[in-house]
Amino acid sequence: MNKIATLIMAGILMGMAPSVWAQEVNYDEARIPEYVLPDPMLMQSGKAVKSVKQWEKRRRPELMKLFETEMFGKMPGRPDYMHYELLSEDPAALNGKATRKEIAVYFDSARTLSMTLLMYVPNGADGPVPAFLGANFKGNAGTLGENARRWPFEYIVSKGYAVVTFAREDVDPDHHDGFKNGIHGLMDAGKERQADSWGTISAWSWGLSRALDYLETDDDIDGRRVAVIGHSRLGKTALWAGATDERFALVISNDSGCGGAALSRRRIGETLQAINRNFPHWFCDNYNKYSNNEEALFVDQQGLIALIAPRPVYVASATEDTWADPEGEFLSALYASPVYELYGKKGLAVSSMPKPEQPSLDGDVGYHIRTGKHDITLYDWQQYIKFADKYFK
Ligand code: GCU
Repeated sequence: MNKIATLIMAGILMGMAPSVWAQEVNYDEARIPEYVLPDPMLMQSGKAVKSVKQWEKRRRPELMKLFETEMFGKMPGRPDYMHYELLSEDPAALNGKATRKEIAVYFDSARTLSMTLLMYVPNGADGPVPAFLGANFKGNAGTLGENARRWPFEYIVSKGYAVVTFAREDVDPDHHDGFKNGIHGLMDAGKERQADSWGTISAWSWGLSRALDYLETDDDIDGRRVAVIGHSRLGKTALWAGATDERFALVISNDSGCGGAALSRRRIGETLQAINRNFPHWFCDNYNKYSNNEEALFVDQQGLIALIAPRPVYVASATEDTWADPEGEFLSALYASPVYELYGKKGLAVSSMPKPEQPSLDGDVGYHIRTGKHDITLYDWQQYIKFADKYFK
């Protein structure tokens, strides 16, 4: 197969329309253009951040606003009439090891839109337990069926953690319809769309915050020990949720790639041009300004990770996931570390890319690269649980 045919095949395998994949993709480190990475600790005024106070009062809000208005789009707050309903409860799930619950989170009083949380809580705990919260790709039923491999409920529960998930498409369908459907349809009705209006990744992140609103009311869960997790586009989502909602005590990005942990300026694998063209609904309209114009970006994706500081964050990659640029994911974690150090925390504990299956768990910024494909596997979960144990046990 020639190169273009290979790209088209790869596109088809990833479920994309072949026409959008026939652009040349660079996978060669030697062909990465020269770039200068802005320092996340340099304020727009040109002054360097020297203290936590300056970071929190000046630079962090400035940076947050840039990510909000230039990349993901502004999210609304919690809707007034949001309410919950317990739909089912099975105290003898997973062979008696867990209680399985389903909760409807209604976003409005008329119940026109809701998401259903599926949760497994370990039985026999002394008190409220820590939890992993993440949206899923294939619906809650899929986490037990075709996507079960990605959701090792029994293993997570055996380690003393609850696990909570919902279908991302409950909150916002993953296709571009001009922001008419899902939560946009409900919350934006009658409003004109702006260049910084929220895209679908912001909508999913918002859904994660609403799920946390519920978890804070659930006596089985310790709302101060909730880790937000996501794979791929949902890894981008987890990072943005972790940045915007400081209630998340730990943040995990699995193979999040472009628009997630990977540095955009490297332009290797997926580029901003490709992501904006193929997924025009994910980000706000302003983000199109940076397609093929990465040097104009206000900072890079290390800034997104820095917004999570001082809370622990974990970035993971897979060797064959070149579309997501593993090296770029690693470098973001590394270059976000000075902000952790400002807080007296330990950033990433290694300064060069570790070998596969040699996780770096010692710092408050964790990282591993696993052998294999774009996926979230039991191996990945094992590292996340070891990392979470440092903070939650
Ligand atoms: C596509 C997309 C990525 C995304 C991935 C996924 O490959 O280009 O940005 O992370 O889908 O969500 O699986």
